[in-house]
Amino acid sequence: MTITTCIFDAYGTLFDVAAAAREVADEPGREEFAQHWPKVAEHWRLKQLQYTWLRAVTGAHADFWDVTQDGLDWALEAVGLSNNAELRERLLQLYWELSAFPEVPKMLHDLKQMGMNTAILSNGSLGMLSGAVDSAGVGDVLDDVLSVESVGIFKPASVVYDLVGQRFGCANDEVLFVSSNGWDAAAASGYGFTTAWVNRAGDPMDRLPWKPRHVLSDLTTIPDLAAR
Ligand code: LAC
Repeated sequence: MTITTCIFDAYGTLFDVAAAAREVADEPGREEFAQHWPKVAEHWRLKQLQYTWLRAVTGAHADFWDVTQDGLDWALEAVGLSNNAELRERLLQLYWELSAFPEVPKMLHDLKQMGMNTAILSNGSLGMLSGAVDSAGVGDVLDDVLSVESVGIFKPASVVYDLVGQRFGCANDEVLFVSSNGWDAAAASGYGFTTAWVNRAGDPMDRLPWKPRHVLSDLTTIPDLAAR
């Protein structure tokens, strides 16, 4: 089936989630944080995701911004930095203004030139997502930003993936769904999308009942995949 619609996960896929901790670690006077930042970034991301899954299975939904703060608080406490309120605020401020990976603007521009529908489908709330889209300057090459907030449950609940067909009126096999989260790409394959897992870190494949169709090291080849 021909691909008509390219859908992107946001955090870690279009936007560099480690950038907030990395940039803060480079600021003057952050010597202590500079020693811990890779661990904070890793724990922050892992706890944030675990909390989304736990909230989804227990029906205890919360805004992704709250879950993001909960994950950060766990990560800062784990390295003994939970008493630094200014550091916490700075990390959250930069998370709101994440930069996109370098290849993102051209890749989205090329997809629009090809006549593709393009959108984000994310756990993020619309406020967070519009902060990141604006700071990355990619609003004009996205047709829409779809948030789980309209269904009140996090990925990989299938009602989240339903939002794509509802918005674009396309069949599942016309959709190329792109995520840097192995579990998200796998679940979207199980849902019926054609999927690409962007595995920048060279991680092992998740052991789940479904597999991504394509595995990429970055986003540069997405227009070629969509044209196949
Ligand atoms: C998102 C997270 C899962 O953007 O990366 O939905």
